[in-house]
Amino acid sequence: MIVINFKAYRESFGRSALELAKLAEEVAEKSGIHIAVAVNYLDLPTIAREVRIDVFSQHVDAVEFGSFTGVVNAEMIKEYGAKGSILNHSERRMKLADIDFCITKMKALGLVSIVCTNNISTTRAVAALEPDFVAVEPPELIGSGMAVSKVRPEIVEKSVRAAKEICRKIKVLCGAGITGYEDYVKALELGADGVLLASGIVKAKDRKKALEELVGLR
Ligand code: G3P
Repeated sequence: MIVINFKAYRESFGRSALELAKLAEEVAEKSGIHIAVAVNYLDLPTIAREVRIDVFSQHVDAVEFGSFTGVVNAEMIKEYGAKGSILNHSERRMKLADIDFCITKMKALGLVSIVCTNNISTTRAVAALEPDFVAVEPPELIGSGMAVSKVRPEIVEKSVRAAKEICRKIKVLCGAGITGYEDYVKALELGADGVLLASGIVKAKDRKKALEELVGLR
């Protein structure tokens, strides 16, 4: 699985976000690889309506419906067509109890949870909460163009082992600095079930080419 996190880049907001999601759909269909996109809340309803690939939100707040201001809960993203959400991204850290609340709520709603971690110990801690996916991303490599699977392979390998020891059915992604096919394949060789990436695609001059390169179509 490949998850493209659109983050809050200007290049992946509004009309550009929809264009990129459509490119991801095209490349997913051509390659047969499961590609999903994680988009901002404003773009989510439109993108979820317009593409056949899975659309995730980038965060969910640990609240029910009620007297809360400026929040988006799991029910809301489901209503607008999300397949699930990223939780606890390095750029949007959450408390452990809130991660647990969201995973439980999302399971009940049939939503897929992808919980980010920054190292092997946090991977182990999050695996105990049994999300669908844990995604290990060393923060110092995010946006660096240096792929975690190449420059810190031990983190990926040990995180996969740690997570699967705790929960056999959990899937493990890795991310940070992933750009091309070699980075992706190396992640799979290390035992990961896929990758989570952003700048390598979102900020590429030719996004279609970057996507095709990522999945080995070029
Ligand atoms: O969520 C993915 C992300 O944090 C990795 O970012 O730009 O290094 O691919 P990037």
